[in-house]
Parts: sequence; structure tokens; C-alpha cells
Amino acid sequence: MKEFERYLLNRIAAANSHTLPVYRQQGGYKAIEKVLKTPLKPEDVIAVMKDSGLRGRGGAGFPTGMKWSFMPDITKDPRPRYLAVNADESEPGTCKDRVLMERDPHGLVEGCLIACYAMRAKAAYIYVRGEYRLSYDRVQAAIDEARAAGLVGKNILGTDFSCDLWMHKGAGAYICGEETGLMESLEGKRGHPRPKPPFPAGSGLWRSPTTVNNVETIFNAPFIVERGPEWFKAMGVPKSTGNFLCGISGHVNKPGVYELPFGLTARQILEEVAGGVWKGRKLKAFFPGGSSTGLMPASAIDVVMDHDSVKAAGSMFGTAAMIFLDETASIPQVMDVTLRFYDHESCGQCSQCREGTQWLHQMFHRIARGKGKREDLDLLVNLANGMAPGKTICALADAAAIPTLAAVKHFRSDFEQCIELGRDPHAPTHAPAPELQGAH
Ligand SMILES: Cc1cc2nc3c(=O)[nH]c(=O)nc-3n(C[C@H](O)[C@H](O)[C@H](O)COP(=O)(O)O)c2cc1C
Ligand code: SF4
Repeated sequence: MKEFERYLLNRIAAANSHTLPVYRQQGGYKAIEKVLKTPLKPEDVIAVMKDSGLRGRGGAGFPTGMKWSFMPDITKDPRPRYLAVNADESEPGTCKDRVLMERDPHGLVEGCLIACYAMRAKAAYIYVRGEYRLSYDRVQAAIDEARAAGLVGKNILGTDFSCDLWMHKGAGAYICGEETGLMESLEGKRGHPRPKPPFPAGSGLWRSPTTVNNVETIFNAPFIVERGPEWFKAMGVPKSTGNFLCGISGHVNKPGVYELPFGLTARQILEEVAGGVWKGRKLKAFFPGGSSTGLMPASAIDVVMDHDSVKAAGSMFGTAAMIFLDETASIPQVMDVTLRFYDHESCGQCSQCREGTQWLHQMFHRIARGKGKREDLDLLVNLANGMAPGKTICALADAAAIPTLAAVKHFRSDFEQCIELGRDPHAPTHAPAPELQGAH
């Protein structure tokens, strides 16, 4: 792997990297100073973000500058406008935003200020996964320190820019990471996603213009503003620029969160970053970007890790949460636990998702327990095709259907073996999961 410049995780090696003095020693708050003192106009900041090519790190890879430009013209629409930062991080395998919030929370605070300035938002709400207590405490402490230093609140750095930052704790629901479910939850309601349109930029929090961005997306903004779009575009590949945080888990020697440039192959990441498959075993499969992205077989290990290449190979870059499975893994068991998650987390508003996730789970469960039927595999495919893509209010149904279709496509013989033998030959030796009520 060639040498590359790191910037996302550079600061966290310092002792007390989460505090204001250390952040400042490392050049922190220079980007917001540049914006306010130059001064750059809000539309100039959006133009810089657009030019950088930054794509959202929350899963869909949507261009950030373009998303910011969807906020309505303030001269024609004077409603208050908001930024909502998605720190819910509940996708199985994803654990990158946590590192930024725990170790470099001022980077997020500064990113929020820049984003709010660019979109003329009067406040940002940071919606943090309920289990992330340290993340919550560290970001709250950073906001308090910044407020005391005149960096958050009224007349920031003596200018007429005022902006407030507020924290909100989630309560353990994956669906509150979906952008409209998140807004419902922030408003104090049950986290039921809203049908779109209207999109958040037209009608978001309290029916006002709102932009929802992932933590890592916002964290990139100060670097881009300070060092310029040309510097940012020189990293990665033309359509996926900058570096990204790659959360590696599963059967590898060195799991962890790593900063990487786009354009490496999955093989390079597995072998040169994660230390290879553990215990000298062979690779069987991997999720490239979290459990909602299509499972890929070991033969796809030379896929290039950027948004478009992973898509062209039949899966998704997602949140770059790579989960590697070795040759002893049971794909039916993997799909059983994966679908148990989506079944549990479906909010129940759409029948395809409410019923579909439950049926997919029940079928995977019975196959994994050696009680599957021959017709189950075609039924799984029919059912998943009836759920996705884009057939429901939000993409949770897709998140369940996509890995289902990929698993049956690439590992059909593993499922057939379980059905024919009446047991799972790869079943782990520890006690099996308790019998599912109502499973067949
Ligand atoms: C069921 C579901 C759960 C999601 N969970 C998260 C999450 O935990 N964090 C996140 O940033 N995006 C999550 N998303 C994506 C958000 O809806 C949204 O696209 C994202 O926050 C936009 O940020 P970005 O443009 O910066 O990527 C989820 C989407 C779905 C459908
Ligand atoms: S797709 Fe599922 S999670 Fe999303 S709104 Fe419909 S029922 Fe709820």
C-alpha cells in the first residue's frame, strides 16, 4: 500500500485530545475563524464543499455540498433552519463516529459551526446513540468549553454569526438513525420515518428547513475549508474524494477503526491493514459496508473500495464497516442473526417491512436449525423482491432485503446443505440461540 496523508485521526494520539486547549494547540478552530474573519459568504462555503466532492459518510454517499445547497433561499423563506447531526450509529458493524466523538469532539463542534454558517442555520442538534455515554459526555463537554470561549452561542468570535448546539440522547432504536425517524424522535415523538416528499430541506424539524448529516461528514468540513478543495480532491479517487474511516470487525487479526484513502482493494485492507484472516484460515465472505450491504463472497475480495466500484460489483460501500467471515462461518447463522436485528428494529408502519422482515427472519432461523424446506430459498427471494428497492417509507426494508438476496445468490449451496442434511454443518459448537417462538 502506498504512503498516504492522514488527517481524520491525526489529533487523537495527543493526551487529552478531547479538550479545548489541546484542540487549539493542534490548529483547532482556525477554519471557523477563516470563514468568519475573511469573511467567506455562506454560498462560498457551500461552493467549496461542492467542489471538494465530499460524499456523505452516513451510508448513502450523497454529495454533501449539493445537499447543503438544497436549503431554501433565506430571502424567500425566512423560517428558522436547522442542522441535525446523525450520531445514532446503530448499523451492525459501524463504530467509527464513536472514535471521533470520544477523542476529537471539538472537530465535530467546529464542523457544526461551519455547516450552520453555510446553511444559515441557527442551531445544530446532535442526536447521539443512547449507549454512547462517553461520546455524549465528551461532545457535551466540548460544547460547554466552546461556549465559555465564545465559540458557540451569540456573536461567535465577535462577529454577527450566532449559533447554538444542543445534544439529544437516543433510546436504543436503529430506526432513529434514519433521517426522518431521527427528526420525529428529536421532536419528542415515536421514531416513525416520514414519507418523502416533503424532503427535510423543505420541511424537516418542526416543519422548518433541515439538513441531516452524519458525524464523519460534518467532521470533514473544517479540513476542507482550511486546506481547500484541491487538497481534498487529490486524495482518494475522482468520484470518492478524501479519506474515510473504515471499521473492521469479524474474523481478522487486527480489528479496529482505521483511516484509509478511497481506492484500495478489499484485499489490501484485509491483508495489509487488518492483518489477514485470523487463525490462518481462509476468507469465506464479507460485508463491505455494514450488515445492510450485500454480503460478498471471498472471490470478490479484489473489489476497489469506493462508492461506485462496490456498487458496480453488486453491493454498497455503505458506512465502510467491513465485516469479514472466515471459512468456518455459517452463512445461515449469519443471516439468522442479521435478520433478527432488522425484524426487531422495523417500526411496523409498512406492511412489506413489518411482515417481510419477520418472515425472512423466521425462514433463515428454521434453515439454520436444520428445519428448512426446499421451497424456502425461492420464497426468500420472492419475499425480498417484494420488499425492495424503494417500496417502503424508508430504506430499512431494503436493508433487510438486499443482504438476503445477496446471501441466497452467492451461498445457495450452503442453505441447500442445511435443508438436505437437516442440520447446519457449520453450526458453532456453543449453545444454539433459543427456539424462536412461532418459527417453523
Ligand atoms: C434504517 C436506517 C438507519 C440509519 N442509521 C443511520 C445512522 O445511524 N447514522 C447515519 O449517519 N445515517 C444513518 N442512516 C442514513 C440517514 O438516513 C441519512 O442518510 C444520513 O444520516 C445522511 O448523512 P450523510 O449525507 O452525511 O451521509 C440510516 C438510514 C436508514 C434507512
Ligand atoms: S420501511 Fe420498515 S422501518 Fe421504514 S418506515 Fe416502513 S416499516 Fe418502518
